[in-house]
Formats: sequence, structure tokens, C-alpha cells
Amino acid sequence: MTTRYITTPIYYVNDRPHIGHCYTTLLADALTRAERLRQGSSVQSATAVPGVFFLTGTDEHADKVVTSAAAHNMTAIQWADRNAAEFAKAFAFMECRYDDFIRTTQDRHKTRVTEYVTALIKSGAIYKGSYEGWYDENQEEYLTETVAKEQEYKSAVTGKPLVRRTEPCYFFKLSAFAQRIEAHFKAHPEFVQPEARRNEVLGRLRDGLNDVPISRPVTDDPATQFGIRVPGDEQHRIYVWIDALFNYLSVVDTDERRALWPASVHIIAKDILWFHAVIWPAMLMALQDTAKINATRFGFVGLPGTVYSHAYWVREGRKMSKSLGNFVTIEVLEAYAGKYSLDAVRWYMLTQGPQHAQDADFSHSKFVEVFNADLANGIGNCASRVANMIEKYFPGTSGGSIPAHHGKYTWSNVATGGTETFDWPAITAAASGKVRTALTTFDLPAALSAGIDLVRKVDQFINVTAPFKLAKTVEANPAAKDELGVILYQCAEAVRIASVLLSPALVSRMPMLWDAWGCKPWPGLNLEDACVFGAGKASLKPGQPLRKPDNLFMRADPAEAPPA
Ligand code: MSP
Repeated sequence: MTTRYITTPIYYVNDRPHIGHCYTTLLADALTRAERLRQGSSVQSATAVPGVFFLTGTDEHADKVVTSAAAHNMTAIQWADRNAAEFAKAFAFMECRYDDFIRTTQDRHKTRVTEYVTALIKSGAIYKGSYEGWYDENQEEYLTETVAKEQEYKSAVTGKPLVRRTEPCYFFKLSAFAQRIEAHFKAHPEFVQPEARRNEVLGRLRDGLNDVPISRPVTDDPATQFGIRVPGDEQHRIYVWIDALFNYLSVVDTDERRALWPASVHIIAKDILWFHAVIWPAMLMALQDTAKINATRFGFVGLPGTVYSHAYWVREGRKMSKSLGNFVTIEVLEAYAGKYSLDAVRWYMLTQGPQHAQDADFSHSKFVEVFNADLANGIGNCASRVANMIEKYFPGTSGGSIPAHHGKYTWSNVATGGTETFDWPAITAAASGKVRTALTTFDLPAALSAGIDLVRKVDQFINVTAPFKLAKTVEANPAAKDELGVILYQCAEAVRIASVLLSPALVSRMPMLWDAWGCKPWPGLNLEDACVFGAGKASLKPGQPLRKPDNLFMRADPAEAPPA
């Protein structure tokens, strides 16, 4: 399936964003950029629906938003406005270019949710029943059986006995979907990724599925009044999670965008997997069923392709928490970006982040190590080394002039009796092929490592061919100049291809390189074509001016303290 529509969770606006929220949105951003590149689809546009559509946003009707607003002497919506703006600002700083930002308090969303829930009530998938559970009268909250038991059926705050309480509530008939959900998991092994998460859900599915409460009562307490009402019943509001999940659909449920559904991938973290992997697909099945039951317009509501559930960031080996006060905040990320560049922050997060099943550590020493290895001594140094030699040995009117390749795209070390062969068209095609394969499993670390491995290959090639030594022989043997040109062309063209592969992460430095080398992006070219070695439309053209890029990444001193 072609990746068309990519989403992130919508984040609670009770607080400001931190690295965790930025990370998921960054993953979606890099994936969107990589997909646009792979497909050669149109770039982002505010008016037309682009080939790849990326949605993020905020989840606002949560009780904790109301509580937190009150603690700041604000109304819920004032507080939501302020924090939604903080999220948008954080994502702008991270250079995350989403196509739309949904806030669940927007009318376009509320109207659709009301419509969906109305259809589900009519079809019987949502029904009114009563909720019975252990209730803490002082805290005014229900506790699950497990928690109640842990607390010996007493309030954790007052010590008073919990009471058994029953109240009217709307339920979603999740139990009716157990078999269909299991069948879907079987038929679509790619539905939940990575594998470890899929197994986790399968394990839980074996315990069976119960119907889930999807409403909360509305009382005189203003804290209970923030939310979308259950259609036709003012005494109940739709539980925030049900309201929130619908965002993925509501945003594209318009005449212009409907063709984007189903979403290709919902990127989330492990904390909210159950909602996305089980409850959400069941809700969609139920909504789709309404087309048959009551002839609604929801026949188009198929299931998303993949729910991709990454792990968590921890900091210097410790879980991040409010009590420890050790969140990697936006300010921390800004300080790193200020010192090492935003691309370096994006690189570290994308390549070392918790994309797979393991948690990942935000550690200063690791950051510097990776920065030096991949960026300063990697692509940065390699590009400047190659450009330096071209400027020096093939000067042009300003800077250097791209040397002729004489159609020689492969190199064998015959002259020196060595055996090493560099088949650049094959090497670069393999690298771009790796990226394409990695994207089928949304594996950005693998995609980006294909780019950096290509840079390492160029470094190895320079060491083996030693063009700086060859240059010294040119005076005595003018024919060596041709060979020197061929070598340097091959280096530069391979670096160009690496820069294309790295560009979904390095969003400002790679365009700087393209500026200096006169190889701006290639509208309409897909990844495969953009990576054709030597003879492609995007290939470097002999005779064209090339200058050394400004320092792309300055080497970092590992002994230096973390930026404050
Ligand atoms: N509002 C719900 C989601 C509704 S989606 C229909 C929610 N919001 S949240 O603000 O708590 O964000 C949770 C998400 O933030 C996680 O799933 C993950 O994407 C991101 N992260 C929050 N902390 C994180 C880490 N420490 N590490 C990585 N990402 C984490 O749940």
C-alpha cells in the first residue's frame, strides 16, 4: 500500500510539550518527507491535497485540561488555546511541516463526532446501560477492580470505604467485535508494528473483550461540562478518548479529502496502543456497518493500514517524570539546536530514538558521539573534503568546476594492483533501494543509516584512491588529471546521492549543500530517479560550478558540558 496519510497522536493540552511529543511528530515529519521523496509526489501545499498528508494536533476535552486551567485561573478553552499554541510553536521549531493541525474543540471536529456517534447509537453499536464500579466519594472517581483491591477497597486519600455505585452510561459494544478484530490481526500482520507490540496486543486479545463505557456524566460542576454532548442526551458527554480517536477521520471527512481515508499509518507510543489497535478499529468497523444497517454514508470507513507504536525516551538512564523534574523540555532541545544545529537534534532523535520496541536514552555523551561520527566527521567532513579537492584541482570561475566523468562510473584499483572495485551505480542503487525497503516498515533509523553508510563508502574510496596523492603526479603525467577528475566526480556524485537520502532528517544542511553544489531538489523525480548515478536527470553535470559548502557541522568537543 502506498503511504498517503500519516498521523500522530493528538496531545493533551494540560501542559506544555516535551521531547516525547516532539519525537512522535518528528517521526511523522521525517516519514512524510521521505515518502514525498520516494514517490516524487508534490511538495506540501496549503490548498490542494498533497500526495502525502501529515496530520497532528491537540486533544482538548480532557478533565485534566479543566483542572489544570483552573489551577492557572483560566477557563478550559483559554488554557487549551495557550497550550495548543505551544505545541504548534514546538513543532515549528522542530521544522515539522504538517498539512493540518486539528484541535478537538474546533467545530469541524465536533460536528463530525456528533454525526458518528449519532449513527452508532442508531445502529445499536453504542447503547445506554449502567456503569457499576468502586467509587471514591471524596475523590469523585471510579477505581478499577485492580486498583480498588490494591487499596483494600478504601480511599487512598481519606481511608473511607469505597462504595459500590451504579450510574447510567453509554457503552460501545466492543465485545461484538472480538472475532473480527482477531481476524483482522491474522489477515494483516502489518497492522500493528513493531512485532513485539503486536504480540502484546494479541496476548491481551486472548482474554476477550468487554464493552467499554464511552460517556461521562454532566453535572452542575463546570469541570464536567467541557466536552462533546452525547447526541440527544445533554446529561452525558462523550468520553475524551472516543472524541479524540475520531480526529483521524473527522479531518479528512470532507469532499476534498475523503479519498485520503483510510490512514496509512497512525504513529503513536506504547502507552496508547490498546486504544489504537483494538478500540479504534472496532469503532471503525461499527461505523462502516452503519452503511449496511441504516444506509449511512460511512461505507468508505475502512481500517488504517498500520498502527506503529514506538517506545519511550528516558533521560540519562532514568524515566522522565514530573516528580524527578527531568523532562527533556523544549528549552533543552533549543539549547542543543543552538549549539549543534537543529539538524543535529533531528538526527539524534531520529537515529537514536525509541523507534522500535526498546526505550532510548537522551544522553549528552551519546549525542556528541553520534554528532561527531555521523555529521561532523561523516557527511559534513566528507562533503567539504570532496569540494575542497575539486576547488583545488578543478578550479572554475568561482570555486570549482565539476570534473568530467568520461562515462566511467565504476572504479577498479588496477593500477596499484589492488583488488577493490567500486561499482558506484550499484552501490548507490543498493543504498536507495535500502531506503525504499526501510520505508515499507516505516523504519527511519534503517533508512537514514543507508545514507550515512554511503558517506562512509565515499570516505573509504578516497582513502583507497588517494586523489590528493594522484594530484601530485599530474604535472609529470597529464593523463593522471583525467583519472583524478573521474575519481572526484564519483565522490561528489555519491555524496550528492547520500545527501538526498539524508534529507528527510537534515532539512536545512542538505539544502545548503545543494545550493553550494548547484543541485537543487528535483521536482517530480521519485527517489529511484533522483538517485541514478552519473547519467540521471538529477546527476551532477560536468563543467557546472561547485563551491565548498559553509561548515555544515562543526566538530564537537566531547569534554564540553551540555548546553544550558
Ligand atoms: N491525547 C492522548 C492521545 C489521543 S490520540 C487519539 C494522549 N496524549 S499525550 O499528550 O499524553 O501524548 C501521548 C503521546 O506522546 C505518546 O503516545 C507519544 O506519542 C508521546 N510521548 C509522550 N511521552 C513520551 C516519551 N517519554 N517518549 C516518547 N514519546 C512519548 O495520550
